[in-house]
Amino acid sequence: MEGFHASLRNRVTTLGTPVVSPLPEFYEVFDEQNVLNIADSLERHHELPRAFSYFGSGARHWDDSVTLQPPRPDIAALRDRLPFLDEYFAGRSRLDVVDVGPGNGDPARVVLSHLLARGVLGRYLAIDVSPGMLKIAENRLRTWFGSSAPFEGHVLDIGRDRFDHLVPALSGSPEGPVRDPARACLALLLGGTLGNLRSPEDALGNVRGSLGRSDLLAVSERLDECPGPSARPGGARRGTAPPPPRLSPFNRFLLDLLGIPESLYAVEFGIDPRRDTRFIRVRLGAPVRLRLRTGAGERHVDLSEGTPLELWRYWRLTPAELAARLARSGLEPVFAGDAAPGEFILSLSRPCLPSPSGTPAG
Ligand SMILES: C[S@@+](CC[C@H](N)C(=O)[O-])C[C@H]1O[C@@H](n2cnc3c(N)ncnc32)[C@H](O)[C@@H]1O
Repeated sequence: MEGFHASLRNRVTTLGTPVVSPLPEFYEVFDEQNVLNIADSLERHHELPRAFSYFGSGARHWDDSVTLQPPRPDIAALRDRLPFLDEYFAGRSRLDVVDVGPGNGDPARVVLSHLLARGVLGRYLAIDVSPGMLKIAENRLRTWFGSSAPFEGHVLDIGRDRFDHLVPALSGSPEGPVRDPARACLALLLGGTLGNLRSPEDALGNVRGSLGRSDLLAVSERLDECPGPSARPGGARRGTAPPPPRLSPFNRFLLDLLGIPESLYAVEFGIDPRRDTRFIRVRLGAPVRLRLRTGAGERHVDLSEGTPLELWRYWRLTPAELAARLARSGLEPVFAGDAAPGEFILSLSRPCLPSPSGTPAG
């Protein structure tokens, strides 16, 4: 902490609270609305929303980290399901693929190559909060397929926005968009994007609301490492003193851009039993005033000593819990995969028809 206070000698409030200001890159990466959302989330939820970690060079950090990871079982499962998808969409001459949170586009590649080879790929729409992530996905797609794969990138927040305005429909109905009988839409929500969100229900509601009756949704989420409630660990193991954890460049990206130095916080990895989530947090070792520049002037975010700032959360899931989440959002399974604890599980589901009372029938 000494070094930190020394570096801030001339930047303290009259009460002696250290003042930190974002690096210039912060304002290149984030627009005014993003800055206000970050301030709001810090003040109201003590959280740096994960979605913002994928902006700017965060997109490259993420791409670098997944490139080193082993092949994923959910993608293998998707490949195995291609004949099923052909049968499911038989009679449709065009299939539009909507990839929600595409990352670097790699998980969609198996589906896109298959549809291209069959000559039935309509549009490929990549929807992401991060323009940088979309750029990476577009570059990859061009490398793999040249100009034969259509790429459309759209900046949307699936926690807030639907995508039905982007996919062609003849009309609307209480069950969702009504498509041209020759077309359908396959939506992808892969790689645990859902599990990181503050409200997976809001995101699933937006996806469900954008799907027509003939459409399908592929979701993959990482199962929790400890399958049953009784097996879930409550805290640190006795007798072991692991070294203090440090953050990866991807996890540290937002803190670095905000100008909050490592010397100011301690890193915590753990489980929040109240919300049944895993988390990565940092706990401030001193009070901090964050000084943000906005169009309307300066905005100060005051954080007291000991405040935990959440950087990552993951809802702890079993296969049954994933199925229940989908069902609550009006989606019924057409395929439920299997996976070991800690692995990604694939699920394919379609919109349920509303029951006569208006609620989705299960
Ligand atoms: C965990 S990565 C998954 C990437 C890819 N689907 C995969 O299977 O590897 C999350 C992706 O979703 C995007 N994302 C995160 N939050 C989002 C949100 N609220 N709305 C839209 N995209 C989001 C990120 O930018 C990133 O591309």
